[in-house]
Formats: sequence, C-alpha cells, structure tokens
Amino acid sequence: MSHAKVDANPFLAALDGKTRARPPIWLMRQAGRYLPEYREIRARAPTFLDFCYNPGLAVEATLQPIRRFGFDAAILFSDILVIPDALGQDVSFEAGEGPRLRPLQTQADIEALRPELNVGRLNPVFETIERLRTKLPEDVALIGFCGAPWTVATYMIAGRGTPDQAPARRFAYLQPDLFQRLIDCLVDVSSDYLVRQFQAGVQAVQIFDSWSGVLPVAEFERWCLDPVHAMISRVRSRVPEARIIAFPRGAGTYLPRFTAGAGTERMGLSALGLDTSVDPDWAATALPEKLPLQGNLDPIALLAGGPRLDEAIDRILAAFDGRPHIFNLGHGILPETPIAHVEQLMQRVRRGRQ
Ligand code: CP3
Repeated sequence: MSHAKVDANPFLAALDGKTRARPPIWLMRQAGRYLPEYREIRARAPTFLDFCYNPGLAVEATLQPIRRFGFDAAILFSDILVIPDALGQDVSFEAGEGPRLRPLQTQADIEALRPELNVGRLNPVFETIERLRTKLPEDVALIGFCGAPWTVATYMIAGRGTPDQAPARRFAYLQPDLFQRLIDCLVDVSSDYLVRQFQAGVQAVQIFDSWSGVLPVAEFERWCLDPVHAMISRVRSRVPEARIIAFPRGAGTYLPRFTAGAGTERMGLSALGLDTSVDPDWAATALPEKLPLQGNLDPIALLAGGPRLDEAIDRILAAFDGRPHIFNLGHGILPETPIAHVEQLMQRVRRGRQ
C-alpha cells in the first residue's frame, strides 16, 4: 500500500505509529444484533453459519455499521468458529444460547480433524473480502480476524461457551501432548487462514484471544503467548508487511510479556488490544512507547450512556494522548446497546481531546 493511501486512512496510520488529534475508532462486534438492520437481514439465512458463508449477506452486515456511524474500520463479518467448522467438527449456533460443537474428547477425535485449511469451505469468506474491498471508501480500512489457538481450542474441547473454560484447562493439564497437537494444528490452519485473508484484500487482522485471562503464567506462555507469536512469524514470513493486532483479553499483568519485540520490523505485534480491566494510565506508561494501543471503553458504560459515558470516554482519550491509539471497547458491544449511545460515543471521540 502506498503512503498516500495510508495517510488517507486514519486507522492504518495509527497502526503504523502515527499520532493524530483524534484517534480512529471502530468497535469490536460492531456488526450484530444491536442494529435493527442486522436483525432484519439475519432473518434471511436459516442458520448463523449459512449467514457467515453467504457473501451477499456478510458484505451487507459488514457495511451496515460503517454506513450508520462512519467508523474508521470495517471488520469482516464472520466468526472465529468457522475454523473448527472447516476442520470438520460439527458447529452450530442455538438462538440465545451461543455456539454448540461436538466436543473433542479423545485422541481419535483430534486425529480426525483435517489438519489443512479447507479452502473450499472458506471460499465464501474470501469472496466476501474481495467484494468488500471494492465497496469500502479509501479512508475506511478492512480488518480480517481469527480466534487465537487457545480460545478456539476452548470451544472445541468444551463444545460450548463456559464461564471459565475449565474443560480445556483440565484437558491441557491431563493430556498436554495431545492438547499441543490441537494447538499446533490451529496455529497452522489459522496462519494460513490469515494469509488468505490478506491475499483477498484485508489491510490488518485481529487475533481474538478472548479466554487468555483464565490461565496461570506457565500455561499462558505455552498456550497463548507462544502460539500467537508463532502465528505472527508464520504470517509475516508470507506477508512481510502484515499489520497484526493481538487482543489477549484478561491478560492483565502478563501484558508486558506480549509486547516483547513489538514495534520491531517483522517481529512482534503491530498493536495491542486492551480489555476493560486494564488501567489506561498504566498501559500508556508501562507498554512500549511506540506500540499502538487499542481500547478500552467498558461495554457496560456504553450500554448505560449519559454523563458517566462521556467521562469514561474522556479519561481514555486523555490517557492515550500523545501516543498512537485506536479507540475501541474493552470487549464486544452488547446486543442491548442503544443506537443513541453509539452516536454519543462517535460525537465525543470525533470532537477530539478537550
Ligand atoms: O465484530 C464484528 O462485528 C464481526 C463479526 C464477529 C462475530 N463474532 C459475529 C457474531 C466477530 C469478530 C466475532 C468474534 C467471536 N466469536 C469471538 C471473539 C470476540 C469475543 O466476543 O470474545 C468469540 C469468542 C466468538 C464465538 C461466538 N460467536 C459466541 C460465543 C457467540 C454467541 C454469543 C454471542 O455473542 O452472540 C457467537 C455468535 C455470533 N458471532 C453472533 C454474531 C453477530 C450472534 C449470532 C446471531 O446473530 O445469530
């Protein structure tokens, strides 16, 4: 991408370390059920996976929040669980209950997974990306994504979301070699998947490690940090300029371990996503000065609205003043969030720092 284009694109400029009077903004899970227009098109597909694999509907869902709010980046509409689906595990989504997978329990279950990226299955995702690139204006970036190996594995082992991912943690303690094989398989397949997303036209990717916060430090290093670093070097070996954001939710005091090598060319991550519980003042001083940081408004503050929302926004803007920052939530937007509160957020961030 030429410099002229990056300069016209505030999100990419921030990822490249540029600081602006106001930060670019997008929201995790910005497409979805809080939007009436999403609920309307969602009803057109029989299942959630059918929806994800329908380029016409996925393109529309990606563009809806851009049209309504004018975010600086669009995130591909898909889900992290398309990877287990592409590996041959049964995946479905029950309305109001979340994902259901046929849980992996035995060595045979893990050996039965197809270890290579099922491009045939995922072709509609790449087609969605190609179509989006022709539809998005130059100043709106396109973000691709996948789940981190640990987070995807937690769903594959438990077969559903759980409050603390105890099934995968237990599995990893009892059968570390077998669990390592699953993680290695996910590193391979997810790296290939991100490379294909870049080839189809995404300009940055985010690796969602939504469950990195449940592990003790040794397990965090083995199951979260090492696999994500392996993915970063794997992707960079094929897409040298790849912009990669890591979002290790709940990593807390482990965050500085995540940033070793960050900001160095072809090493480490391009930006770090911070969850709601990270103190922005701490992050702004404790994490590498040149590393772009993304976050971290409490999704409940956005749900609540009012003057406390303004205060929370201002605190984050002030904390990251003077360093590359991408405004975002500390986790995904909640389906009950009023549209008017997102408009309030946009106006406040766009108004710039006071
Ligand atoms: O951010 C976006 O707008 C792009 C689309 C996107 C979805 N899921 C759509 C979705 C993204 C980036 C995701 C990521 C994702 N999916 C994560 C990581 C981020 C996080 O929230 O921690 C995880 C853990 C999943 C797995 C998943 N998918 C769960 C647990 C659920 C059910 C609970 C829920 O939030 O609804 C889903 C379903 C899902 N993924 C929906 C959407 C819009 C709702 C289903 C529907 O509309 O019918």
